[in-house]
Parts: sequence; C-alpha cells; structure tokens
Amino acid sequence: MKDLEAKRIEEIPLPNRYSDPVLLRHTHEITDAIPEDKILRIETAELVASLWRPGNKVLDLGAGQGDSSLPLLQKHSEIKVDLVDVSSESIEQAKERLAPFAERLTFVAKDALAYLLEAKKHQIIFADLVVHNFPNDDKRRLLKAIYENLTSDGVFINADKILPDDEKEAQEMHDAQMQKYREKLSPEVAEAIIAHETEDMRQPYRTTESEFVQMLQGAGFEKVRMIKRVKRSAIILASKL
Ligand SMILES: C[S@@+](CC[C@H](N)C(=O)[O-])C[C@H]1O[C@@H](n2cnc3c(N)ncnc32)[C@H](O)[C@@H]1O
Repeated sequence: MKDLEAKRIEEIPLPNRYSDPVLLRHTHEITDAIPEDKILRIETAELVASLWRPGNKVLDLGAGQGDSSLPLLQKHSEIKVDLVDVSSESIEQAKERLAPFAERLTFVAKDALAYLLEAKKHQIIFADLVVHNFPNDDKRRLLKAIYENLTSDGVFINADKILPDDEKEAQEMHDAQMQKYREKLSPEVAEAIIAHETEDMRQPYRTTESEFVQMLQGAGFEKVRMIKRVKRSAIILASKL
C-alpha cells in the first residue's frame, strides 16, 4: 500500500517555473531587490544549525545556484549538506560557488519529488524560495514527500514568500514590491519577475499563511510554527513530533 502511494506521488514530476533564462541569469539582482529574503536566508541557516545534532543529514531542497546553503556552510563547518535541484545548470553553478566546502557537500540534479522518494531519510530539510513556485496541488504532493523522507523526529523549514491572510495587506505588499522592482531592475528583468510574481498572486499558485499551515498539517506534520515574518517573506517550522 505504501509503495503504491509513493508511486502515485512520484508519477508526475513537479513543473519548474523558475526556468526563464532572464530570471536565472539575474537571480542575484532580483534577490538584492528583496532585502528581507537575504535576512531570512541567514536566519534560516541559524535555525538549521540550532536544530542540528551530530550525524544529522541536512537537505537543501531546490538549492539553485547555492545561495541558500552558503550562510550555513560559511558559519557551521561541522554541517554537511545534500543539495538538490532539478536544473543541472544551476547545480553546476552551485558546485563552482560552493567549491571551498566541496568535501561536505553532495549535489544531485533531479526533480525534488523523485529525489525525496528514493533518497535516504534526512533529519532536517529546508527550502528557500522554492515551495511557493508550485501549483497548490503540487505543493501538497511535495509536502507529503518531504514528510515521508524525514526521519520520525525530523523537521522541515520553509523560508519562502508566504502571503498574509489579509487580502488587502497581501495586495499592498505585492504592489510595493513590484514598484521596487521597477525602480531597481532593468526593464527586461523587472518585466520577467513582475510577470512571475503576478502569477503567484492568482490560482493555482496563490496560498495564504493559514492555507499553507493547513497543507503542512494535511501532509502529517504534528507541529507547525511561524518563526518569523518580514513583509511577504516568512520562515515556518514544521515538526513530525
Ligand atoms: C527561486 S529559486 C531558489 C533557489 C535557492 N533555494 C535560493 O534560495 O537561492 C527556485 C529553485 O527551485 C528549483 N526547482 C523548480 N522546480 C523544481 C523541481 N521540480 N525539483 C527541484 N527543484 C526545482 C529551480 O530550479 C530553482 O533553482
């Protein structure tokens, strides 16, 4: 029965909406225009380190070009990380970027779902700016696969764009960020990221904070805690125990 379920989750790979060459080429300029994401990236690293125990396996899911693992690797030399991303081009860039830490790293270019269902279990999985990119049904499949891959005492840390429940507040935050992109980025890059983020505000992608908490609970997580919110960006910790 469990095998059947696992097969069903795996059948359809997750779509990659972050494959636009403009977004990929300019990912650092885009992140520079969202200072709160950089702050939360550092805080996510500290949260991972505070939960880590010797022997724990850590996974950076949707690791991209290596930026989400960098603060963790720079400050915590005892921690080893598995980095997974569907884009082999991004994984190659991550290998170069993280070369000084190579002996502590394992890189895998693969769809997140396929990886989670076949890989050895991890105690800590974190994802930085990844989960919001998927349609809501795919978010549920991914969260279930994350839950299945974690050890019985495992935790999932999601650092992501998570809309507040108040619709007006969410729209105002979105509009302010789009304005920032127009001011800070070239017209080509601003157009690409604004199109992407405007899609995020609509179905099937739009998810509010309480909907996301329900998704985590639906996947089986026992405890779900909002650790920090700065504007649209938030860190949520979901524990199996
Ligand atoms: C916005 S980037 C974030 C990258 C990195 N975590 C960071 O914070 O810089 C989203 C990443 O999700 C990856 N991604 C999209 N679909 C995926 C899938 N099906 N499986 C694994 N990774 C995927 C993309 O290739 C991209 O690198």
